[in-house]
Amino acid sequence: MVPVVSDLLLNDLQMSGVGSLQQQLYQQLHRHIVGGRLVSGARLPSSRQLAQSMGLSRNTVSLVLDQLKAEGYLESHMGRGVFVSTELPSMAVDHLPDSPSLPLPELSSYADLLGDLEQDNGPKDLPFAPGIPDVKAFPMAIWARIMRRHVDRLALQTYDSDQGYQPLREALTHYLRESRGVRCDSDQIVITQGAQQAISLCAQVLLNRDDPVLLEESGYRGARTAFEAHQCRLMPAMVRNNVLDVAALPSTTQAKLLYVTPTHHYPLGGILSASDRLRLLQWAASAQTWILEDDYDSEFNFVGKPVAALQGMAAQTPVIYMGSFSKTLLPALRLGYLVVPKALASVFTKAKNAMSGETPLLTQAAVAEFLEEGHFVRHLRKMRRHYHGKWRQAQSLLEQYCGEHIQIVAESAGMHLVICFEGVSDRVLAREFYKKGYGSTPLSSYQLVQKSHLNAVEESRQGPNHVGINGLVLGFSNTTEQQRIDGIKTLSALIKKLTKTGS
Ligand SMILES: Cc1ncc(COP(=O)(O)O)c(C=O)c1O
Repeated sequence: MVPVVSDLLLNDLQMSGVGSLQQQLYQQLHRHIVGGRLVSGARLPSSRQLAQSMGLSRNTVSLVLDQLKAEGYLESHMGRGVFVSTELPSMAVDHLPDSPSLPLPELSSYADLLGDLEQDNGPKDLPFAPGIPDVKAFPMAIWARIMRRHVDRLALQTYDSDQGYQPLREALTHYLRESRGVRCDSDQIVITQGAQQAISLCAQVLLNRDDPVLLEESGYRGARTAFEAHQCRLMPAMVRNNVLDVAALPSTTQAKLLYVTPTHHYPLGGILSASDRLRLLQWAASAQTWILEDDYDSEFNFVGKPVAALQGMAAQTPVIYMGSFSKTLLPALRLGYLVVPKALASVFTKAKNAMSGETPLLTQAAVAEFLEEGHFVRHLRKMRRHYHGKWRQAQSLLEQYCGEHIQIVAESAGMHLVICFEGVSDRVLAREFYKKGYGSTPLSSYQLVQKSHLNAVEESRQGPNHVGINGLVLGFSNTTEQQRIDGIKTLSALIKKLTKTGS
């Protein structure tokens, strides 16, 4: 599409008052072309419109346009109008302010850090990509009806509470108390833009730069990036038997916070036992360390009975609880929540105000009604059965086609399976699987400290039950039956081929 010079830009053409009107208009247009505000290929208004908006005679405008055409800054196209030249005179280009030779002012040290990270621009929702719910199973008709009911409510078109829409906080309180055993009132809930903002807020409110933070090893990369962004010092908290090794936590520590996924370790899927949970709470109290409990995937538990949240196991715990609607509803909602001690609700709300302001109101109102009307609990019940079926089938296909080459991590979480193997690098396998059209994440990428950096003592502490760090995390929730069959056959063929070539 041809860019058209806007009224705003025309209003910006300020006559300097120095020299003739013709000279002044020439200088203005020339400055805007050379400065890049009038982009190459943009169509100028007609000389009549220009004259009218600038309060000049049409003759003056025509003379200026002719001069700029003669100099190569503008060009006419018969019957279409006057355009900024697509090939500007070299003198003009040399002076463009975004010329790469002009050095830009320095960036922050955080931006330097981000520059070193790989950016993943590939599609995120390929079959077997971890963490993608089956959006086709979402009750879209109900959702659309609720959205229609709220979309033109005037009360939702303005600013609201930074802490979150009150009816949503109330509906969530009810759900979290009933279903997750969380001890909370609605004034302890802060609505966030997904789990990611929840973690970032915790970093901002609870930690200073260079403060040590304990992260499960292996663990959630989103937590790692949030704490890294806050320039905290990341320390591994070892995982054993697919859960945090509570006994191995240092009795004295400088760490100000421990991030943990007790209900379903991410990504290995283990569930922390009740006795370990109590021990963890005691440890946190005596070590004076915050626990950030990410209640990841708790709704989809296929092994044993549902386990209540750590936060609710005792009163007055140093636990900040967090959850997200990304898996239980839709990732695109970007909606999550924190439950913080009452005394901290105000400071968290202020931090949220500074970070992002409110969470979109329409989404909050629709989700509140979805919860209030019981659709949420019904949807979870349906998805539990749905994912359980997929989980069983994916396990048996993996055993059937890849069994001799892999070990399946039995207690894996509700939306993905973890397989471990030797003889082929997990990063190479993930790359080759991607080339065939499937997602997956190499297990080694969840590791804070790469295996080669572990010393002998740490390696021996991991013990024989520590799952190897060479494996794949395979999301089954967003796969169809046919994709599971085809994908796992493809994976099997790749493992066999790559193991032979020793990649
Ligand atoms: C451990 C863990 N927590 C939370 C989330 C949800 O993140 P968000 O709410 O930012 O989408 C994910 C998503 O993959 C996750 O793996």
